[in-house]
Amino acid sequence: MQRYRTFTRDEVKVIFVLGGPGVGKGTQCTHLAQDYGFSHLCAGDLLREEQARPGSEFGELISTCIREGKIVPQEITIALLKNAMKDEVAKGRTKFLIDGFPRKMDQAIKFEEEIAVSEFTLYFECSEEVMLQRLMKRSETSGRADDNIESIRKRFKTFIDTSMPVIDYYRGMNKIVTIPCEKTKEEVYDLLVVKIKDRLTL
Ligand code: C5P
Ligand code: MG
Repeated sequence: MQRYRTFTRDEVKVIFVLGGPGVGKGTQCTHLAQDYGFSHLCAGDLLREEQARPGSEFGELISTCIREGKIVPQEITIALLKNAMKDEVAKGRTKFLIDGFPRKMDQAIKFEEEIAVSEFTLYFECSEEVMLQRLMKRSETSGRADDNIESIRKRFKTFIDTSMPVIDYYRGMNKIVTIPCEKTKEEVYDLLVVKIKDRLTL
């Protein structure tokens, strides 16, 4: 039988994780991965690794996009995710949290056409004011080239213009699970676990 996608829905369970910059996607995914055995793949981390890889032909492009808060061309991000997923599946892992993806409609369409169909998308919802506070705190230690006020403003704008349409698209398919994220990380986590268990056997 011909294979249309890299992985079938029986082989892998994919949860996308979206939300504005600084909302706490990484923190919550790390926690979930520890407690429930998810593989946590962060699109931004994969891009930063590729950017830093000696000899990468995409290093400069990725670095510019990240600083400017722009979305890296989907081919690059999807190839990185596909390789990372294959490595995890080879180790017997089947449950994925894909953090910070899909940030743009073309990423959503291409990934689901070629790699795997998602179960649903977690949308971490939060005011810009709270996200800004969290990012400014993170900037004291993160060393990230985009944790500065100019880049943060651009990232907020890209989130509204480019990523919200992805959330609207999945909402129309009843595939959005919204998590309010203004409370403490412990309170957010407890709610997150309850909401995931409504949709998936953990
Ligand atoms: O998710 P994170 O904040 O780590 O992403 C950092 C940057 O990586 C984004 O602002 C964007 O430039 C790039 N990125 C992307 N496509 C994704 C995820 C991240 O272009 N799906
Ligand atoms: Mg992150």
